Parts: sequence; structure tokens; C-alpha cells
Amino acid sequence: MKTIELNIQDALYFAEKQYKDLEAKANEAIVTLEEGSGAGNDFLGWLDLPSKTPESLVDSINATAARLRENCDYVVCVGIGGSYLGAKAVNYALADSFADFYAPKPKEPKVLYAGQNIGEDYLAELQKLLEGKKFGIIVISKSGTTTEPAIAFRLLKEQLEKQAGKDAAKNLIVAITDEKKGALRQMADQEGYETYVIPDNVGGRFSVLTPVGLLPIAVAGHDIKKLLAGAADMERTTLHASAENPSQIYARMRNALYLSGKKTEILVNFDPKLHYVSEWWKQLYGESEGKDGKGIFPASVDFTTDLHSMGQWIQDGERTIFETVISVRKPAIDHRVPMDAENLDGINYLAGKRIDEVNKMAELGTKMAHVEGGVPNMRIEIPAIDEYSLGQLIYFFEKACGISGYMLGVNPFNQPGVEAYKRNMFKLLHKPGY
Ligand code: PA5
Repeated sequence: MKTIELNIQDALYFAEKQYKDLEAKANEAIVTLEEGSGAGNDFLGWLDLPSKTPESLVDSINATAARLRENCDYVVCVGIGGSYLGAKAVNYALADSFADFYAPKPKEPKVLYAGQNIGEDYLAELQKLLEGKKFGIIVISKSGTTTEPAIAFRLLKEQLEKQAGKDAAKNLIVAITDEKKGALRQMADQEGYETYVIPDNVGGRFSVLTPVGLLPIAVAGHDIKKLLAGAADMERTTLHASAENPSQIYARMRNALYLSGKKTEILVNFDPKLHYVSEWWKQLYGESEGKDGKGIFPASVDFTTDLHSMGQWIQDGERTIFETVISVRKPAIDHRVPMDAENLDGINYLAGKRIDEVNKMAELGTKMAHVEGGVPNMRIEIPAIDEYSLGQLIYFFEKACGISGYMLGVNPFNQPGVEAYKRNMFKLLHKPGY
């Protein structure tokens, strides 16, 4: 079976004692998760989502996606944080790198994102793009009251109703929200939109394998059954406490490094398609672990691009960082460096080689330099950038995050700190009640 592989050898060397000492704690953490006896245990619904998602739900999501694909040239996903990053990560990874520069084709709408910022120009320019176009909206908010998506949805709903008519607009809007609570639920019921439910026991950043991620991914034309199959395989692989459980090993190693003084983890990729996987990962770990004055700071870089900007710091700066590299075993397309008779650029020594061979040597060379420079290195190899591997990777990180948070001694499933800016903003904007 094609599976992701984790290698911690070049990290272990830096924190061998701490790693050994954490054996019992890692076992305890996974048992706490399994038994549902830890803090935040009412948010463990994500644990068996891959194996328990009913086929009828997948079929329904695919049918809704087919309807939007049939009727739209653009589908705007409105949501923020956990209500958008998972879908964006998967869609960005699986898309042609230049997809945005091709015109939409029939039944292959472009998936766009809004409600993830409050940029006035961003929203105005998005609406300009959609002027006179056939578009649909997937609006996603678990609480149903988040300001950023609420503003974007108000604008886009008004535009869609003007362009398509109120009745037609109804069939082009899908809401994904709580079963009962929140302004979005109320509006969806009143307006008669099709809706999907975000389960009560699944928090935003753990929700990519619910309709929150599955619908936008299906709308982009990707196979959500394969995504769930990859995740289900990882669910089985990481089920119990064991010395071979990759999520447990990763969680234990990063906690060992943290105890040894490594306070920042940099998630590294050598394929630009994985850029938003890192953004999703940063939210998952940042919101889950950064609390009570504790937590590894999750950062990310795209190599080799950022070797020419952040490389100096990583090689030579304060020795408080470690790296986790996601490496793709095989790119989808065989593409090679051509021979040039004149060799004016001096790179004929690479002629005939796959570009990926050069990339892999950049990866190896970078690892050697960074480890030598005092940066511990973990490596996660994924078989390919496809639905199945991404499903595995998503579940691997989610499970590790739960284990790691419990090892750190925090509740990985709440985010009390996110409220602070909102309270101030509401007060400044004179929201009633603030
Ligand atoms: O992980 C989380 O819970 C958050 O990042 C939320 O996903 C984010 O704040 C959006 O919240 P909501 O879906 O309620 O609009």
C-alpha cells in the first residue's frame, strides 16, 4: 500500500533523552484521546469521521457539487479559518499551478474564496470579476455569526440575487453551518437554501473531512471518496498507542524537541503546490497548542524559493527551531532539463535529468546543511500529490495534533484567545451589546 512515511532520525539525535522520557506520556495521551477522557472531549467527532462518513452523505455532496458545476462558471467559498483552509489546501494542491490563467470551461467552475479577510479592495475586485458571470456561493460558518464571512456573504448574496433573480439564486447558494444555532442557520432556513451540517463535536480546524471541506473539494472536481479512503487508512494506522504509530511518533518527537529548547517548528515543502497545506497545518497546530503560555510556534516555508530569503536565518540564526519537511515521492509529470549545444548557462551537467532529481538533491543538501547547523529535521514522505495521499496526510496531522496537545498539557480543542480581537473590534465598531 502506498503510504506516507515518517523519518525522525535527524531529529532524534538532538533530543534523545527527552524523547525516551516521553514514552509513557505519549502512550497516555493517545489513550486519553481514545477513551475521550481529556479536556475538550466533546470535540472528538473528527477521530472516526473517515471511517464513519455515510456513503449517502458523500453521494449527496457529490450531487450538490455536480449541480453547482453544471450551473456555475465560478463558485465562491465564503468562510474563514477552519471553515476554509482545509478546502483551500486540498484544492490548491490538486489544481494545475496555472489554473487561474485559463478561462473556466463548461462544468469546470473556478473555485474562489472570500470571507477570509476584510480587504475592501479584495471584495470589490471579486465582485467586479463576478459581474455578469454565472456564479454560486458556498457559505460556511459553524457559529454562523463570524463577521468576515457575514460581510462577504451579504455582498455576494445581493449581487447573485440581482444577477440571477431571487428564486434562481436560492438554488445557487449552499450553506454549511450548525444544525440549529446561529444567524446563518436562521437565514438558510428562512431563505430555503440547501444546507449541510457541521457536526457539533467537530471544531472548525478539524472539519476538513466534513461537508466544510468535502463540498468545495468536490466542486473543484476532485474525488472526495479517495480523500476519505486515504484518511480512513491513516485512521486505522494511528488508532492505538504503539511504537509504530506515526502520529504518536511525530507528536512525541516535537514535544521532545520543545523540551530541549526548540520553540519554533517550520513546516517545509519542496513543492509549491503544498503551500496551503502549510497554512492549514499552521492553524491546526497554532490554535490547538498555543495557550496557557505554552506551545511550539508553527511557521512554514516553501523551498527552494524561501532558501533565498529565509535560508540564512534558518542556517545561522538563533538555534530555537526545528524543521519538518514534507517530501513528495514522485511528481505527476516527467519533465527533464534539456541539453543545450552551446551550454552558455553552464548547466549541461543536469541535461537529461528529471527536474525532480535536482529538487531532491536540493532537499538532501539543505537537510545536511541545516542539521549540521543545529536544526533538527523530521521528514514526512508522501507518495504523490493526490486525493489519497492528502487524505492520509490530513488525518496524520490531526491525530498527531490531538496527541501532542495532550502531551503538552493543554486543551487542544478550544480557542479562547481568538475572541480577544473580536471583542475589541466589536466595541470599536459599536456593535450592540459591546
Ligand atoms: O478552528 C476554529 O474553530 C476557527 O478557526 C474557526 O474555524 C473560524 O474562527 C471560523 O469560525 P466559524 O466557522 O464559526 O465562522
